[in-house]
Amino acid sequence: MIIYYDNKKQKEEILKNTPEAKLKIIFGRGSRNKLICADNISAMKILLNDYSGRVDLVYIDPPFATNGCFRIGNERTSTISSSNDDDVAYSDTIVGDDFLEFLRERLIFLRELLSERGSIYLHIDCKIGHYVKLIMDEIFGRDMFKNDITRIKCNPKNFNRKAFGNIKDSILFYSKSNSLIWNNPQISFSEDDKMRLFKKIDSDGRRYTTVPLHAPGETIKGNTNKTWKGIKPPKGRHWRTDPDNLEELDKHGIIEWSENGIPRKKIFLDNKDGKKMQDIWEFKDPQYPQYPTEKSLDLLKFIIKASSNEGGLVFDCFAGSGTTLIAAQELNRNWIGIDKSEQAIKIVRKKLDNLPNTLFNKVEYEFLKQI
Ligand SMILES: C[S@@+](CC[C@H](N)C(=O)[O-])C[C@H]1O[C@@H](n2cnc3c(N)ncnc32)[C@H](O)[C@@H]1O
Repeated sequence: MIIYYDNKKQKEEILKNTPEAKLKIIFGRGSRNKLICADNISAMKILLNDYSGRVDLVYIDPPFATNGCFRIGNERTSTISSSNDDDVAYSDTIVGDDFLEFLRERLIFLRELLSERGSIYLHIDCKIGHYVKLIMDEIFGRDMFKNDITRIKCNPKNFNRKAFGNIKDSILFYSKSNSLIWNNPQISFSEDDKMRLFKKIDSDGRRYTTVPLHAPGETIKGNTNKTWKGIKPPKGRHWRTDPDNLEELDKHGIIEWSENGIPRKKIFLDNKDGKKMQDIWEFKDPQYPQYPTEKSLDLLKFIIKASSNEGGLVFDCFAGSGTTLIAAQELNRNWIGIDKSEQAIKIVRKKLDNLPNTLFNKVEYEFLKQI
């Protein structure tokens, strides 16, 4: 499905005609981490020379086409007043089709930068997010769509408008290929989960539940359709493992037999790391942000741990106050961040300066500016 609008350019035209930014190194020449104060599209064009196919993880939190202006220490205001522009963090005035094309152009470059094992997470709100999903389907492929994550961002507020409140935004997650880095993050069971999911307790006081020993399908491989202890798997099903393994499990007390002779496998709570994270996340943004629309550091750490490894390269070209960069630094990933706002860059640098500088995690970066 292709989305059409008037000012849509050809992908080849975008890649070819975007001018390269002229970047001046201010300090830190040669460091692996880079902080770039520039318009991201022309900076990405130049980064393609060295980083094409080398980025493991992209997180971006672009403007959301709100037609507003964001000030340091303030919520969104509707216009930029010329009297006090020093505290303007950034303006978000590209709207409608122009916004979609603005984002599409950047997503085209981001795909070029991603490695074959790379992933992208795009943070967006529910007013524009559905259109952005179509653009991402087009660029990354519908089959590379992984999740539309609902993120609970704040506590309920008293909106005056005649509608339900809004406490969520979305994170669209795509990969470049099917061989993405995926560390399958687990979250701890709550006390309620433990009681609900592991109802039984054995003679040693261990909590457990049981699951069937068979799965759908006739023979999957080997002897999994054979009779074991005089029992055949039910019609249309096979044993989950070879009867010899079932014998071993039974010997070790891992199989529970019901009164009418049905065997089931015991799954112990203390053998489990936790449960799979689902696609509704609660990561509230900082209560006292240093930068408007600053995101939760825990959210970024969670994403980075899920979709990159230590030493990998994390990229954010709408870096704002640098939440992604700080999270990457703290988790021993390399990082590149771009933002065109001087106010944003000032805050990123302050945050980086405040990080502990240890032997194993040195805070070093090259700082470049567009001239
Ligand atoms: C929503 S904020 C990002 C906030 C960030 N996630 C954080 O946690 O602080 C979006 C940022 O994108 C930057 N931005 C917007 N258009 C840009 C462009 N063309 N090039 C570089 N940065 C841009 C703005 O200056 C702003 O800081």
